[in-house]
Amino acid sequence: MDAIFEHIDFNENPLFERIITDISIQQFSIIDNFFTDDEVEVLRQSLLQKYDDDAFKKAAIGNKLNETIEKSIRGDVILWMDETKADDAEQLFFNKINQLVNYLNKTCFLGILHKEFHYAIYPIGTFYKRHIDTFQNDDRRKLSFVCYLNEDGWAAENGGELCLYLNENNQEVEKNIYPLPGRVVIFESQSIEHEVKTVHSQRLSVTGWLKTR
Ligand code: OGA
Ligand code: MN
Repeated sequence: MDAIFEHIDFNENPLFERIITDISIQQFSIIDNFFTDDEVEVLRQSLLQKYDDDAFKKAAIGNKLNETIEKSIRGDVILWMDETKADDAEQLFFNKINQLVNYLNKTCFLGILHKEFHYAIYPIGTFYKRHIDTFQNDDRRKLSFVCYLNEDGWAAENGGELCLYLNENNQEVEKNIYPLPGRVVIFESQSIEHEVKTVHSQRLSVTGWLKTR
């Protein structure tokens, strides 16, 4: 078991316990209905309103030190969330995230001190090629978090699967995950390579990272 997941089970929150168990065994967790239908709707409307207001910009690769925009690698547009200026939708989002962070810190000694989240929209035809979420000059990202805000009935033809590249018995295995509304995927930022397959229908999400000092 991974040392960062040394873990005391207080058994207080079965959902969070399952996430911790999943990650300690397989480095990722998929949680359907992390957010309720109503919460997803509120968050989706918040995202779409900000998109209408033209607040999104093209996503870059790398961090502030080496920021380049490269459409051949990723084609999403993003808007960073500011918790200090959270609207109602973002408050409900951060409430749940903060509960999870507190639980992780209390039971797993993870030392999550920072977090960063952005809305993301993948227009039709865009993708995010295979990558890892930690930067060469910064390894503070510990857990990656993605929450999907698509409308009900996301179909296989819409594409946009999150593909995790896993190592099972020294064999690479692809785990394809549909971006269903309310679904959350959490994975180890430092160990799991992944990609977003080409989308054939606009794909909405919130993505973020839980970080150590
Ligand atoms: C990312 C990312 C996955 C997804 O933004 O780094 O890998 O499913 N997103 O949107
Ligand atoms: Mn990623």
